[in-house]
Amino acid sequence: MKTTPTIEEVTALAKRRGFVYPSSEIYGGFVGIYDYGPYGAELANNIKSIWWKSMVQMEDNIVGLDSSIFTRPEVWVASGHVGGFSDPMAECKECNTRSRADHLIEEAGGFADEKMSPEEINKVFEEYKDKISCPNCGKKNFAKVKNFNLLAQSNLGNFSEDWTKEPTYLRGETCQGIYINYKNVLDTARVKVPFGIAQIGKAFRNEIAPRQYIFRKREFEQMEMQMFVEPDAEMTVYEEWRKKRMQYYLDLGIKKENLKWHEHENLVFYAKAAWDIEYKFPFGFKELEGVHARGDYDLTQHMKHSGAKLTYREEGGEEYTPHVVETSVGVDRTFLAVMTEFYDKDELGGEERTVMRFPYRLAPIKAAVFPLLKNKPELVKKAREIYDTLKMDIRSEFDDSGNIGKRYRRQDEIGTPYCITVDFDTLEDGKVTIRERDSGEQKRVAIEDIVKEVSA
Ligand code: GAP
Repeated sequence: MKTTPTIEEVTALAKRRGFVYPSSEIYGGFVGIYDYGPYGAELANNIKSIWWKSMVQMEDNIVGLDSSIFTRPEVWVASGHVGGFSDPMAECKECNTRSRADHLIEEAGGFADEKMSPEEINKVFEEYKDKISCPNCGKKNFAKVKNFNLLAQSNLGNFSEDWTKEPTYLRGETCQGIYINYKNVLDTARVKVPFGIAQIGKAFRNEIAPRQYIFRKREFEQMEMQMFVEPDAEMTVYEEWRKKRMQYYLDLGIKKENLKWHEHENLVFYAKAAWDIEYKFPFGFKELEGVHARGDYDLTQHMKHSGAKLTYREEGGEEYTPHVVETSVGVDRTFLAVMTEFYDKDELGGEERTVMRFPYRLAPIKAAVFPLLKNKPELVKKAREIYDTLKMDIRSEFDDSGNIGKRYRRQDEIGTPYCITVDFDTLEDGKVTIRERDSGEQKRVAIEDIVKEVSA
């Protein structure tokens, strides 16, 4: 039976096969930042297009948006990020390593989270201090826990010498771009409350201790949807979206036993409900997506700070500020979840192999075309011809390197559902051998039927 792979197995495959590289590797890497290689970029694009389709194409009352990473700094004051978007930081007095205080407390068997006040965190930290040691030097000598603001700053458009006094910010979440465009969308798209705005884009957080690979990055990508609803409908819509989002992961092929709900213990004051969908990552169940009922907080804050009118009124109806139901998930966390979920090892033809059992729509490459022998020009020519036709319809790859066994192994490790081999018989009978990834079964198929055979 398939078990969850270790994080080392996932990271090794991701590096070996061109899914994920550490950023700036030739300079020694850059903590909390990663790059997606050729197959990683394909997988991330597939994740994004599946999400976009489920939100924007399939939902009649959701429209898309692509707002900029930079906004006026006031946006982040209004949203509360400048004042309160922080994590509790514990600094080791011996080696100056900074760690997330709530994570250290959790590892010591206690409970704390980033929504607690510094006083509350310090109290719990004190209680557990005998069990907490520095992850770097192992000593137990910490300074008082302080809050550290997570917004990443920049001098974009600010040419003063001390720009840090009035910085611009790289967005800490994509949804602020949705709130500040709510009125534009309302005025220009044919939408009426209830309606949603969906967006995919980069977000940046100065995470104190980014860890667990691409699970917690400093530069990451979010897929967020804000549904604007009547105040009385908020909780009904919220429950509908909770169901939809869990079903989405099941439809993606993730097993039910690897997903669970987690209710937030400490709600921010304006939130009515907040639940996370957790996935069983190699290091245990952790947040994959948040589904939040946010009340009218965001629009009210932007009204207060900008002076713009962001209320809503239908003809003959009463004026009100729409409430928001949010779904928010990271591309990178989905990436790690599907790398974990579909990683497998088995034995095929007496040989052990590693195989990524991606569902067709997630697979970076759908079909690979091989000539049986690379030094036979007539086979290479025919295989190229077939590949050149196939690539017009299907994301495919040509491979004539190494022996056929090695080529199969490589395609199994990147999760290619079909391998198509051109041999000497092909030149006679116009048929190729198609091998299916999971079963290893092979069948002969006429060249003109290949597209049909290797389509979803
Ligand atoms: N707008 C709400 C919001 O941003 P969040 O819980 O801070 O809520 C939402 O983030 C999602 O974004 C998370 O569930 C996670 O999938 C992803 N995410 C957050 N911080 C991340 C990080 N440092 N690295 C990778 N993904 C992250």
